[in-house]
Amino acid sequence: MKAPRKLHIKSYGCQMNVYDAQRMVDTLAGEGFVETAGVDDADLVILNTCHIREKASEKVYSELGRLRLVKDDAARNGRQMNIAVAGCVAQAEGQEIIRRAPVVDVVVGPQSYHHLPQLLARAKSHGRALETEFPVEDKFGFLPPPKPDAIRARGISSFVTVQEGCDKFCTFCVVPYTRGAEVSRPVTKIIDDVLRLADHGVREITLIGQNVNAYHGEGPDGRVWSLGTLLHRLAEIPGIVRLRYSTSHPRDVDATLIEAHSDLPALMPFVHLPVQSGSDRILAAMNRKHTADDYRRVIDRFRAARQDIAFSSDFIVGFPGETEEDFLATLALVRQIGYAGAYSFKYSPRPGTPAADMREMVSAAEMDERLVRLQELIDSQQSAFNVAVIGNTVDVLFERAARNPGQIVGRTAYLQPTHVMASPDIIGQVLPVRVESLERYSLLGQIARSAEARSVKTAFSQMTSPQMTTGT
Ligand code: 5AD
Ligand code: SF4
Repeated sequence: MKAPRKLHIKSYGCQMNVYDAQRMVDTLAGEGFVETAGVDDADLVILNTCHIREKASEKVYSELGRLRLVKDDAARNGRQMNIAVAGCVAQAEGQEIIRRAPVVDVVVGPQSYHHLPQLLARAKSHGRALETEFPVEDKFGFLPPPKPDAIRARGISSFVTVQEGCDKFCTFCVVPYTRGAEVSRPVTKIIDDVLRLADHGVREITLIGQNVNAYHGEGPDGRVWSLGTLLHRLAEIPGIVRLRYSTSHPRDVDATLIEAHSDLPALMPFVHLPVQSGSDRILAAMNRKHTADDYRRVIDRFRAARQDIAFSSDFIVGFPGETEEDFLATLALVRQIGYAGAYSFKYSPRPGTPAADMREMVSAAEMDERLVRLQELIDSQQSAFNVAVIGNTVDVLFERAARNPGQIVGRTAYLQPTHVMASPDIIGQVLPVRVESLERYSLLGQIARSAEARSVKTAFSQMTSPQMTTGT
């Protein structure tokens, strides 16, 4: 038998990339590849890249510089190593990568991952291969489902892509160009995926998409289903105890999604709802299609449906033309909403987007200063949110053994990591934890009423935690 070839895949950026990386691993498993943790013994290294901000794409070129040395080293030892660049930088700058980085063998855009085996074969026979088209066929129909072992190794929490691409065209954002037009997967395909995951021990599903609540997939009844309707259906699947979705656009929050939050205990009361700015002038220049008040009203609807709901958001500071007054409107909105956490970024012009041609640039010094002020405010809200849990009993879904021997780590409804001393048997269960203290961002506590605990036993004591990163 041929020895398996080794694949190392490194993902940058959003949760969609984490999910796509798993799909690439599943595709290449069929070609005899197994994953390896390091680059040194890899036969194939894939960089699954992010183009959302300038720094994200710069990282790719510096990583390729390092990989060139490893590849040369392997060649000196008579071993061939292939390097592929996937993801949104591949999509946006495919030709540039080929020109700038001769070390790269394959460039593959996010819509073509199912062609990876052919692209590798083409690279072998013709030198190098590039595919950044948006093929007419749906890649999901061609990507093989994960094997049971792979599902188990990935743990009790899993992402499932339900929607891809975006039609919103915010003026700062590359996503509509790199991921293309919005496409929703059919409901039956998603149900099949979730059933398979639940069968192999997955307890928590996060539905993902660049604009996930724009979901409008074909239902088994021939009608178009919204995200809210889909969530109602998925909540019926035995074994799935928690549902989440990310990332949402305020404009696409409809009544079915609000109802899902009031109807479904499994739907976690934690919503990532990016607003980007609190100034109507800037929101208009960003082409966000909503005002700050529209956003406040959406938040109110969620809160009316589910009292314990909490929010996170994304913010951009220093968008072209942003004045101190605009920025103060952002701070005012943050104070008014009160977030459990948020990501904030300095505006970074992305080639090809309308905002990149806007002239009124905010100085680097002003951007830095605004970012610090915003982050201070967000950090103080996040700390207050975390401190408020101390002394309370909260439900925790246990995920894996922690680094400290004897400790098991899980997450609350609000994704706060929570550590307890317990047996690995609790992995996969939702148990009430009495929170005793907070260490940096992690809660420490004890299992409460353990005798009443449900006994959903799973065999996941060795697994690793899913990576939670920002969406778009
Ligand atoms: N500059 C800075 N931040 C950006 N984001 C998207 N595009 C840019 C850009 N050009 C941020 C937005 C988005 C998050 C994923 O990244 O806040 O919600
Ligand atoms: Fe679409 Fe979000 Fe990008 Fe706006 S910021 S274009 S909604 S992906």
